[in-house]
Amino acid sequence: MSTTRGLEGIVATTSSVSSIIDSVLTYQGYDIDDLADHASFEETIYLLWNGKLPNENELQDLTEALARNAEIPQEIIEQMKSYPMDKVHPMAAVRTAVSSLGLFDEEADLMEEEANRRKAIKLQAKIPTIVTAFSRIREGKEPVSPRQDLSFAANFLYMLTGKEPDDIAVNAFNKALVLHADHELNASTFTARVCVATLSDVYSGITAAIGALKGPLHGGANEAVMAMLMEIGDVDNVEPYIRKALDNKEKIMGFGHRVYKDGDPRAKHLREMSKRLTEITGEKKWYEMSVKIEEIVTGEKGLLPNVDFYSASVYHSLGIKHDLFTPIFAVSRVSGWLAHILEQYSNNRLIRPRAEYVGPDKRSYIPIDKR
Ligand code: ACO
Repeated sequence: MSTTRGLEGIVATTSSVSSIIDSVLTYQGYDIDDLADHASFEETIYLLWNGKLPNENELQDLTEALARNAEIPQEIIEQMKSYPMDKVHPMAAVRTAVSSLGLFDEEADLMEEEANRRKAIKLQAKIPTIVTAFSRIREGKEPVSPRQDLSFAANFLYMLTGKEPDDIAVNAFNKALVLHADHELNASTFTARVCVATLSDVYSGITAAIGALKGPLHGGANEAVMAMLMEIGDVDNVEPYIRKALDNKEKIMGFGHRVYKDGDPRAKHLREMSKRLTEITGEKKWYEMSVKIEEIVTGEKGLLPNVDFYSASVYHSLGIKHDLFTPIFAVSRVSGWLAHILEQYSNNRLIRPRAEYVGPDKRSYIPIDKR
């Protein structure tokens, strides 16, 4: 038996949801650049779940279904109020609340495709409400109920702040959601597929995926990037900070990628958004620091920014709390997880690889008094 550390380069399934070929990312054959410039997040969800862009009626049906399903059970709100707010990270809170959500869905264990599609809508609609409700509860505020007349992106920002967002914020947030929606067999998507391949339910698959996304080598990197920017504090401090970190062989968050070796196609969109938004907020230093970090890390190590690097200054500029960056990643990526879960169910086989044994040779049991 031979092993590949971290399953690098291993093709573990077929999928038509998204592809990364020669550093080009597509969702169901549509280039991410095209979608980022033109598509709404609602259209992107439809595309991922159905393999085609929706016509007007199909889009309206999905948009209405998402709006209708956005409320969360009062029990989940009460449960969130009992979380230890001074200790709990929002990703842990969201993971727990999403798991609980399954307890309140009578269809949770129904495995018919239509039931699973209904659950997909419920999860996609309710996760933003969970994230924003948690954010408000921990600030001692009441959750803001979802509005049915706002787009998905606008409604999220509205539920977070209680104020209707302006078009610039909505468009930027919509684009960020589109860019994060799916990414082939990344760690959290693989986790979701492994989970449901046992024929476990959709809620379990999404809960497992949230757990995998939480880690700093995956979705957690965007929050870590912002922590680094805050620690550096000023453009003049970038050079000594980054050089010292590289000398100490520390990882610079937001750089490197398992699959892209010549650049993450999503990063350029977020870089541009970061430039624009920091100009608008008058806090250009976050963009300027990021550019300087990129120059040094790319120059010294040949590593390029990934999706998480510029999304940090984008979300900061939208006034979003730093520990909500990764939950926002989940708000978007749940669309991709759900597409992969539906695909896994449609052609399922248990995912059960092997491990090469490297433990001690065969030994005999020794009674406890002889050890
Ligand atoms: N900073 C400094 N050095 C790095 C970085 C980095 N961000 N990323 C990789 N390297 C170095 C490694 O130290 C290693 O060097 P070595 O060969 O001298 O030991 C080499 O590049 C290869 O790196 P690996 O960690 O083996 O690459 P792997 O494919 O396993 O990991 C990963 C990819 C996890 C993304 C890695 O680049 C990393 O940790 N980046 C920082 C965290 C991050 O930004 N994660 C978000 C990824 S995108 C996403 O999940 C949404």
